[in-house]
Amino acid sequence: MLEIRDLHVKFHNRDREAVAGISLTIDDGEIVGLVGESGSGKSVTAMSIAGLLPRKQCDLSGDILLDGEDLLHAPRSALRQIHGRRIGVVFQEPMSAMDPLMRVGEQVGEVLRIHTGLTPAQRKKKVLEVLSAVELADPEGVYNKYPHELSGGMLQRAMIAAAIVIQPSLLLLDEPTTALDVTIQAQILELLKKLNAEKGISMLFISHNLNVVRKLCKRVAVMQRGLLVESGDTKDVFFHPQHPYTRRLIEAIPTRHGKETV
Ligand SMILES: Nc1ncnc2c1ncn2[C@@H]1O[C@H](COP(=O)(O)OP(=O)(O)O)[C@@H](O)[C@H]1O
Ligand SMILES: [Mg+2]
Repeated sequence: MLEIRDLHVKFHNRDREAVAGISLTIDDGEIVGLVGESGSGKSVTAMSIAGLLPRKQCDLSGDILLDGEDLLHAPRSALRQIHGRRIGVVFQEPMSAMDPLMRVGEQVGEVLRIHTGLTPAQRKKKVLEVLSAVELADPEGVYNKYPHELSGGMLQRAMIAAAIVIQPSLLLLDEPTTALDVTIQAQILELLKKLNAEKGISMLFISHNLNVVRKLCKRVAVMQRGLLVESGDTKDVFFHPQHPYTRRLIEAIPTRHGKETV
């Protein structure tokens, strides 16, 4: 469903390319992990797919195709439609992604207001449905709250609700659980698994934490300095890493018992 071919991104104010020629595919209903240390180009890759790069500040080349539709070179108006309706995005910091002055329910429904002809009542119905799909207790109560009245975990669920309310075919998750404590992190991973299984949404799950990726993704790609150095079945990459960088990432995983490395 998503095909990235030889993507290059170079910011004008940098010497080195942020993304230096990567190719990656995500099949229908698949969750693919993208891992790598900070600065390796993971977020820039996600932003290229989501159409969020500041185009005036960088040069882009290559192809990004979503079900055959070109996401890099199409006219702006067409792109806005594709991005708004077909791709949902969830970032690390739910608090900074929300407008503090707008009720949570209205923010979750914003994309419906922009991209559909639904009436306010129809939108509210959809938002309440999606708030309960992300397992927020008391959807009606959450609908009327402001972001600061929710906990971090609840806010991240609300952000996921906002990303899926329009039923996108692809969800981009950029370190969505990094800011959360371990228990909440595990709950969010379970939720993503459920959404993937029940709604068939394909996902690109970005993390610097290989352990988290291992729980969620059948396939993983490892990024270093703008390049994919390794990709494959998550189990294979874990048990038989081919690249020294991947081995270092695996060795760096903190373990509960000291000895256990995977
Ligand atoms: N808007 C920008 N302008 C210039 N350089 C940027 C910009 N955004 C990201 N970069 C650079 O691109 C590289 C990749 O960044 P990023 O994709 O955010 O890494 P990651 O998400 O893997 O931590 C880094 O060197 C970063 O400094
Ligand atoms: Mg990042």
